[in-house]
Amino acid sequence: MFKSIRAEIQGIVERDPAVGGWLEVVVAYPSFWVMRYYRFSNWLWKRGLRVPARWLMQMARWGTGIEIHPGATIGERFFIDHGMGVVIGEMAEIGDDVTLYHGVTLGGVSPSVDSEQQRNVKRHPTLGNGVIVGSGAQILGPIVVGDHARVGANAVVTRDVDARTTMVGIPAKPVQLSRAEQGAIDQFVAYGTPLDLDDPSAVEGDMLRDQVALLKARLSALEDAVNAANERAQAPSPLSAEPHDLAEKQPGK
Ligand SMILES: CC(C)(COP(=O)(O)OP(=O)(O)OC[C@H]1O[C@@H](n2cnc3c(N)ncnc32)[C@H](O)[C@@H]1OP(=O)(O)O)[C@@H](O)C(=O)NCCC(=O)NCCS
Repeated sequence: MFKSIRAEIQGIVERDPAVGGWLEVVVAYPSFWVMRYYRFSNWLWKRGLRVPARWLMQMARWGTGIEIHPGATIGERFFIDHGMGVVIGEMAEIGDDVTLYHGVTLGGVSPSVDSEQQRNVKRHPTLGNGVIVGSGAQILGPIVVGDHARVGANAVVTRDVDARTTMVGIPAKPVQLSRAEQGAIDQFVAYGTPLDLDDPSAVEGDMLRDQVALLKARLSALEDAVNAANERAQAPSPLSAEPHDLAEKQPGK
């Protein structure tokens, strides 16, 4: 148990540039506190002691702002940075070395619709090892987020995510990473997304704007060509001129 706690502290020190050392983690990190409650509550939950388990997690929520259902499954070296507003549902499964930021939900799609049918049914996401979920992201439903995938801040994910894929937007879509970024994806990236990634919706918007500009230029060229043709058609032709007009134009006459 102590080995696991030491590894968790080490994981936090490695993943948070704001931390000064292990003592700071122990006294000032809600992630560390809530996980101590969770490990014991989960132990109680597995032994059928539902109410004490839930009560303990409620206590933890008051102190940390993090709500974890005691039935959730959480791996080693889990870290919730900042913490406030995180909700982790009963059927959520989280691998090792996962990082979440504040405001993340690992929840159901429609918990209040046909709730009776959803009891004891897998309705919350599964996160693979090394997943990073940015602040405010919502991961909904019994979907699988593959190992080392990253979810950008405020994204809404309702479909499975491939391993090593970065998702952004609402609804979330994968972003295209350069080879260098893809190679570096195993390294920890604070807040889940490199800053130089393009939002796919913004890229799509830029492409549409470019196409509209191109079409406008072609339309304008076509209009110019039609106007020039009209002018030529309206101009008097030398062949259609009257003979006396031609005679007037002859030099010396
Ligand atoms: C909006 C919502 C009710 C739709 O549920 P649903 O009817 O099952 O919808 P689906 O999963 O079939 O998705 C339909 C489409 O809407 C998109 N979508 C789903 N939820 C979305 C959301 N919140 N914002 C934007 N788009 C969303 C899906 O990506 C999908 O798009 P696609 O057809 O292009 O793939 C649900 O996704 C949602 O947001 N629920 C909130 C649940 C919540 O707050 N849970 C917390 C519990 S602790």
